Amino acid sequence: APSDPDLVERARAAKEKLGEKVFVLGHHYQRDEVIRFADVTGDSFRLAQQAAARPEAEYIVFCGVHFMAESADILTGDSQQVVLPDLAAGCSMADMATAEQVAECWDVLTEAGVAGVTVPVSYMNSSADIKAFTGRHGGTICTSSNAERALDWAFEQGEKVLFLPDQHLGRNTAVREMGMSLEDCVVYNPHKPNGGLTAEQLRGAKMILWRGHCSVHGRFSLESVREVRERIPGVNVLVHPECRHEVVTAADRVGSTEYIIKALDAAPAGSKWAIGTELNLVRRLAKAHPDKEIVFLDRTVCFCSTMNRIDLPHLVWALESLADGKVVNRIEVDEETAAYAQQALERMLALP
Ligand code: 13P
Ligand code: SF4
Repeated sequence: APSDPDLVERARAAKEKLGEKVFVLGHHYQRDEVIRFADVTGDSFRLAQQAAARPEAEYIVFCGVHFMAESADILTGDSQQVVLPDLAAGCSMADMATAEQVAECWDVLTEAGVAGVTVPVSYMNSSADIKAFTGRHGGTICTSSNAERALDWAFEQGEKVLFLPDQHLGRNTAVREMGMSLEDCVVYNPHKPNGGLTAEQLRGAKMILWRGHCSVHGRFSLESVREVRERIPGVNVLVHPECRHEVVTAADRVGSTEYIIKALDAAPAGSKWAIGTELNLVRRLAKAHPDKEIVFLDRTVCFCSTMNRIDLPHLVWALESLADGKVVNRIEVDEETAAYAQQALERMLALP
């Protein structure tokens, strides 16, 4: 539906009034009505890199989800305040690994005698507490665009990796990019005693995958790949690495949000694509490339509901409040957590 012109005008006016004081970041999965107001758009890696790009801006309005706003707060100085227009914009995957569960897991690894040789690698899509755990134990953060480099680095530091919280990104990177086998990976289930694993299994594994997944990408199925190949002969199937291993294996190409955008930019006119990632982005890409046939991989999969929490009314409210000098929905990570989490984030930003 087209956006309410009155709200569009209010957002524009509030942003103009704030001028240099505000810096708006927007993730590729945001709604059209919101992303048009972003000063910088990107995948989670680019947004982490860009968070500190405007030190003169007092306010960073983060159009994305909670863990991204936390990371922006960690990566910016005290003079910058990060605002998330709707506090309900969380991430179901990040919620699948709590600090208590991860501390318990580390005890299980210690008990099995493997903690000393295990390096944690945590996906950006995790809470600041998990990032702090990662930093405290000498590990790194990764995103979907640098997971391979992060694992290369981690295996130079130790013999095993504890990969949190997305089992699919961990497995896909290990098997597709690092030449490991499925047998090198075990899944740690935080809801079972000892993660559902024996000490022997932990000692035999190279990759200990946390049992988490994305509620959007995890829903694409092998069936949807088969169905689209039948329906559109010659179609290229391009999916995000948060998809299940069998989906990634059946696809033609795999990559992060930024990779998907570039691949379509480079694709010849007339080519056909079925894309397995968030629907807001796929719809935008289809509109931007009228010379190509671009379809959503599975019509039963929906928007990311938490990304969609950030809508134009919430953005207008946040911007108008800031323009009135009132800081709303500030995301602030406590100092100790931030210090350890920053170590892990800086390690990622320094990856070759
Ligand atoms: P990227 O932005 O790294 O592609 O990750 C996708 C995602 O699920 C963000 O929530
Ligand atoms: Fe979390 Fe998946 Fe939504 Fe990204 S798309 S915010 S990983 S639920």
